[in-house]
Amino acid sequence: MSIPKFIKPSRPLTWLITGCSSGLGLALTREVQRHGHTVIATSRQPSRTSNLVAEVEANGGEWHALDVDDLSAAGTLVDKLEACGHNIDILVNNAGYILFGAVEQISDEERRQLMETIYFGPSRLIQALVPRMRERRFGMIVNISSGAALDGRDSMGGYAAAKAALDDNASLIAQAPLPADYKGSVAEQMMDVMKSGKFVGDGDTGKAARAIFDVTVGEGAGAGHGDERFLPMGRDMIPRVSLVRDQCAHALDVFADIAGNVYAEQGK
Ligand SMILES: NC(=O)c1ccc[n+]([C@@H]2O[C@H](COP(=O)([O-])OP(=O)(O)OC[C@H]3O[C@@H](n4cnc5c(N)ncnc54)[C@H](OP(=O)(O)O)[C@@H]3O)[C@@H](O)[C@H]2O)c1
Repeated sequence: MSIPKFIKPSRPLTWLITGCSSGLGLALTREVQRHGHTVIATSRQPSRTSNLVAEVEANGGEWHALDVDDLSAAGTLVDKLEACGHNIDILVNNAGYILFGAVEQISDEERRQLMETIYFGPSRLIQALVPRMRERRFGMIVNISSGAALDGRDSMGGYAAAKAALDDNASLIAQAPLPADYKGSVAEQMMDVMKSGKFVGDGDTGKAARAIFDVTVGEGAGAGHGDERFLPMGRDMIPRVSLVRDQCAHALDVFADIAGNVYAEQGK
């Protein structure tokens, strides 16, 4: 089955963004509003950032409480928004946190907590929204992942695994059979702007937000690239993506014969 081409509706789109109280989520909220789209911003405790809530509302958006760890919150919020007439076009799974520690240093509880926020929480939002998007024949999922998901990072054992799970989820959704008249696309964005923890911070969240916006809607730097599903960001991503590509190509060079010869003999 051929994958339908991504066609963006020529109207302002409604974005649901998680983790808008700081960093990339806030920068993306501002970028999206600057372009005249509708933002439903979320964070765990909106009252902690009342100035930002007022800013988003003044620009035509809404701000709702959402703890992505809460098992029922995603479904409840999506039901409420859609009942109020907000048809979500684009979901941005941005909420997350980094926990530093090698695989053997992270406790089970810490690992489960990372999976809850980075994998299960976004999965619940995806589950709540994808059926509605398919019904409307348009929708996009943007997952803010990490370079750590691509090739691992020894200092981020649990975090890298949780982001890798999130990536896989997006790939699986993208492969699901779609109705022939589906006009949308399911996209996965990978973001890697190192600006916190032990990394010296020179990432610019404004530039990163602009790139994500452009590539998501296929404008500016994203013009002509509306079907792309992977956006590497951060100078370290260039050698890392190349390394993973080379490792996969090498495995095929060495083991292609084995890969193609693990089947039962016909007629036996
Ligand atoms: N910074 C980097 O260098 C880097 C690199 C690669 C990938 N990333 C990814 O980029 C995304 C944004 O990172 P950032 O640097 O902008 O982080 P940030 O400034 O710490 O912002 C994280 C946001 O996530 C929210 N959040 C955390 N736990 C949550 C939960 N359980 N439910 C709902 N919201 C929650 C926080 O909101 P409240 O606490 O107000 O609820 C906050 O708004 C994350 O997914 C991160 O893993 C970042």
